[in-house]
Amino acid sequence: MNAMKICEGVYWVGAVDWNLRNFHGYETEKGSTYNAYLIIDEKITLIDAVKAGFEEEMLARISSVIDPAKIDVIVSNHAEPDHSGGIPAVRALAKNAKVYCAAGAGVKDLTAYYGDLGYIGVKAGETLSLGKHTLTFVPTPMVHWPDNMVSYMTPGNILFSNDAFGQHYASDERTDTECDLPEAYIQARKYYANIVQPYGMQTGKALAALEGLQIDTICPSHGIIWTQHIPDILALYRSWVANEYDDTVAIVFDTMWHSTEAMAHAIESAFLACGFKPRLYNLHYCHNSDVIADAMTAKYIAVGSPTLNNNMMPSVASFLTYFKGLNGNKKKFVAFGSYGWGGQSPDQVFEALKSPKCEPLLPAVKCAYKPTREQLDKIAADVAAALRAE
Ligand code: FEO
Repeated sequence: MNAMKICEGVYWVGAVDWNLRNFHGYETEKGSTYNAYLIIDEKITLIDAVKAGFEEEMLARISSVIDPAKIDVIVSNHAEPDHSGGIPAVRALAKNAKVYCAAGAGVKDLTAYYGDLGYIGVKAGETLSLGKHTLTFVPTPMVHWPDNMVSYMTPGNILFSNDAFGQHYASDERTDTECDLPEAYIQARKYYANIVQPYGMQTGKALAALEGLQIDTICPSHGIIWTQHIPDILALYRSWVANEYDDTVAIVFDTMWHSTEAMAHAIESAFLACGFKPRLYNLHYCHNSDVIADAMTAKYIAVGSPTLNNNMMPSVASFLTYFKGLNGNKKKFVAFGSYGWGGQSPDQVFEALKSPKCEPLLPAVKCAYKPTREQLDKIAADVAAALRAE
């Protein structure tokens, strides 16, 4: 377990979690990394720690460079336990290390998790000289917790960005020049959609706060380090923050006896006829976190459920709860569903989708038992008419 040198005096000393498949409900099919960074200067500094359970890996990597007991400074850019869980283990060895975090929320959160370790709260623009290097702290509240901040190091122009620009992507390659770059972009998009998306406004402010900084390296707390493709990941973040749409439509459903599925295909044909690219997600097979990643940039979403025990299906209720918490941009929606006798689910889906950000394209679309060809054609015609009237 060795450290990886990023540049003179700066090392990656994190942990690779090849086995992670669920991050508080987010399916992480590529695992993840918990990145920590070591700066060798007059003050030996650790930027972030790893998730509890990975302390030994981090300490072994630190030990390949320097005795962890010599650490003088720990910067906690974010108190969520996947980045702060290793702090007690470091403090157990480096007993006098000072822990810096965001004033207010950072101190409050770390105290709640680990007790009073004498945290030093820092505010916007505060600096900390490490010797040859200086850290400047930039709060990025609600990207995605109140305590989030980033740390910018000069010379070297390295942005330690914590969750921002991260990806749940385990690999032994550490930089964007070594890794499978298309996979890194896929995972960065999925990460933004599942973690950062509800906080687009705050992320926009954070991006604005970073304008004007010369950034040569972005060291996030998950995934690969950005070196040669910084303009590309910044451009992607700007497009996501701006809620830019693409030409896809997310059609999300579950089905019992293929009736709601047949309705989904009728709606698919309507969107196709109107020039969109529909994407279908049967929740029996698709994970919420993958659907959210694709739906993020869709202008329209259609959600359908059969009626089961006077309710929508649990899989659809689960998706709608997830969607309600994460959806960041305005969408028009289509609620639809089939039923045998009760028939409650289409209206339930309709009500669940209604919000300041989501407006109906047309009233809930319903079908009893097995829809006929004529009924399906009428559904397609109604949806297409509503689209053309937009
Ligand atoms: Fe990767 Fe918000 O923790």
